[in-house]
Formats: sequence, C-alpha cells, structure tokens
Amino acid sequence: MNLTELNLELSGLSPRDILKRALDNHEHIALSFSGAEDVVLVHMLSKLTRSPRVFTLDTGRLHPETYRFIDQVRNHYDLPIELYSPQAEPLQQLVREKGLFSFYQDGHQECCGIRKIEPLERALSDLDAWITGQRKDQSPSTRSEVPSVQRDDRFTGRGEHLYKYNPLANWSSAEVWNYIRMMEIPYNALHERGFISIGCEPCTRPVLPGQHEREGRWWWEEATQKECGLHAGGKPGSLPFTG
Ligand code: ADX
Ligand code: SF4
Repeated sequence: MNLTELNLELSGLSPRDILKRALDNHEHIALSFSGAEDVVLVHMLSKLTRSPRVFTLDTGRLHPETYRFIDQVRNHYDLPIELYSPQAEPLQQLVREKGLFSFYQDGHQECCGIRKIEPLERALSDLDAWITGQRKDQSPSTRSEVPSVQRDDRFTGRGEHLYKYNPLANWSSAEVWNYIRMMEIPYNALHERGFISIGCEPCTRPVLPGQHEREGRWWWEEATQKECGLHAGGKPGSLPFTG
C-alpha cells in the first residue's frame, strides 16, 4: 500500500482507530504532547497500549499552568512523559545577545529553533513515526490540508523515512471538547480563561469571542507565519509506505 492509499483509508477512521493503525504499523512511535487539548490523544493512547511513549518539548517558557498540567497528566495516566529541554549553550548565547523577548523584534523563528526545533530533532531521532494533535480547523491559512498520515521530510528519524500521524486532523474543536467532557479527561486550566490554542507564555494570549484560536498565537506576526517549524513540509505523497 502506498502512502496516498493509506491516507485515504485512515481519513475515514476515528482518531482512536487511526492511532491503533499507527501503533500496528510502527514499533518506534511516540506522541508529541503540547500540554493543551491534544491530551485527548494521551487518553486514547493510554487505552490502546501498556507502554505509550509521550514526549513534550519543554521550551522553558510554558505557562505555570501548563507545567502543572503536564505533571497532572503524568500522574493521572501513570505515564513517564519524556521532557526535552533546549541545549544550554545556544540558548545562553541567544539571551545574552538579544535578551529574553527578542522574538517581539525579529520574529519567533530563532527562539523556536533553539527551544523547540532542536529538541524535537533529538526526540525524533530514535523514532520511525510520531503522532501530533494537529487539526485542519486549527489554522485556515496553514493547516487546512493536514492529512491523517504523511511522510515527514523536514526531520530525520531512525530509519530511511519518518512518518507523522495526525489522528485529529478531521476533528473539529467542538468534537475534541465533547470527547474531553464525555470521558472526563483532565485539561489545562488556561482553557477556562479564554485560551484556546496554547503555546509558550510570551507568545500566546487568550482570544476574544469570534476571534480564531490562531489569533492568540504570535499575534504580532502575519497569519501565514504562525508556524514555529514543528509542522513544516511533508504532504501526503505516493512513495511506498514501508512502515
Ligand atoms: S505549534 O507548532 O503552533 O506550536 P500547536 O500548538 O498548534 O503547534 O500544536 C499542534 C501539535 O504540535 C500538538 O498537538 C503537538 O502534537 C505538537 N506540539 C506543539 N507544541 C509542542 C510541545 N511544546 N511539545 C510537544 N509537542 C508539541
Ligand atoms: Fe520562543 Fe515564543 Fe517560540 Fe516559545 S513560542 S520557543 S517563547 S519564540
């Protein structure tokens, strides 16, 4: 089966069944958990396997509520969440040269590169596939084509190809929240204070009624720039699926 066919098949499945297929297809696979509503995937994963692998990129700039929540999830699901921190040297150099809020002046790419992308490269280096909470409805300008599965050409895993699964791609925000309520899944306290999309504290703010959730992220930048690089590239293709 090639990747396009697999993607077609998966797009008709529920998030839980996509996750199950992902686990069946790959031995070395982990969920990338941001500490927001993607907790639904932690919940589903913990029901599907005895030894789920979950990692979080600890940028050092998450909200206190998010740190508390990550630990709450760790205890609730009895799950050793793997935290990846930025490397000290480049981080020290950046903040010495430009201070702690340089992203407001020259964009978020440099800081995200050090605090998110390099740690993600390390997290992915021993994997064949990763799972994310990306959804189409999160960003009309950058995520409207997020597929259920794709080859990740941006990063390198342990083998020839790295795959990325987005089991929530076709779920709406309302469906995610119905599921959280129905299954009584713990959630980040920031969601009760107007935050919908949650990233780092200096780069996230609550949105007003009627505003799109992405408007609360990197609000000083253009809508098309509101990606930190975790999810660039890797459209569904026709290359053989070797998972
Ligand atoms: S971001 O690229 O703009 O920061 P977003 O917050 O929408 O991403 O989250 C989409 C998905 O990216 C999450 O469901 C999660 O899989 C992954 N992700 C984002 N931030 C992190 C993080 N700090 N640690 C681990 N995964 C993350
Ligand atoms: Fe830095 Fe903001 Fe990116 Fe977090 S989201 S890594 S604080 S630029």
